[in-house]
Amino acid sequence: MKDIFTAPFVKEMRKTTANMYRLGWDERNGGNISCLLDEAEAGEYLDLNKVIRTIPLGFDAAPIAGRMFIVTGAGKYFKNVDADPETNLGIVRIASDGKSAGLLWGYRDGGNLTSEFPTHLMSHMARLSADPANRVIMHCHPTCTLAMSHVHELDEKTFTHTLWEMCTECIMVFPDGIGVLPWMLCGTNSIGEATAEKMKDFRLVVWGMHGIYGAGKTMDETFGLIETVEKAAQIYMLTAHLPRINTINDGQLAELAEFLGVKYRRDFLNL
Ligand code: 13P
Ligand code: ZN
Repeated sequence: MKDIFTAPFVKEMRKTTANMYRLGWDERNGGNISCLLDEAEAGEYLDLNKVIRTIPLGFDAAPIAGRMFIVTGAGKYFKNVDADPETNLGIVRIASDGKSAGLLWGYRDGGNLTSEFPTHLMSHMARLSADPANRVIMHCHPTCTLAMSHVHELDEKTFTHTLWEMCTECIMVFPDGIGVLPWMLCGTNSIGEATAEKMKDFRLVVWGMHGIYGAGKTMDETFGLIETVEKAAQIYMLTAHLPRINTINDGQLAELAEFLGVKYRRDFLNL
């Protein structure tokens, strides 16, 4: 058996959480990440039949029974993951009835799955149906995106449109736009269900006055999606109170998307 601390999926979680913390997206225990693991790869580092303990889920995860995930822990600080991954991360496998998760590694101090695990698993299920290559669900509290959700209407067409107008690259990076939810009680099945519903159409979902969720095939893709939204939200927050003299107009946004051949939400433009 290989040393789990050398596993690429553990290294990637350490690197990504440290990066997110450095960018100020994950104060205290803010944010959580889950990544779907390849069973054969995980089996090189772990005895997949040795369950340390069973964690009840409280919702039905039968469609992804048997799948394995590496997940940040509830109440754990992103800033501490790199120094102590075995306490701050866990690897779980969803039981065959979809009602619980078997802990295979991690949460060494008796810790638990992130409180947002319902949203993570429900979003994985939604994204896997939309794109079987999806592997990553990432949540964080990026400052400018959060600030923008206080001063901009929480409507997915106008929210996406405003961000597309901020930087030329936005419509290339998230042509599918951003789903938006109003403030809701976090850590619940209901916010999980609402997020997963949005995830059928979007890889990005803003939670009003809370943060953002991203989904992607790789950690880099998912990180890059959130990074691009946050950059555009920063431009918005730096300019929203100033007279607007120049803008990228809707004709130019369409021209760009069509030049690049990306499938974009044309209905989010006013053409
Ligand atoms: P956890 O510490 O349970 O992951 O919660 C953090 C968070 O961001 C809640 O939305
Ligand atoms: Zn949060």
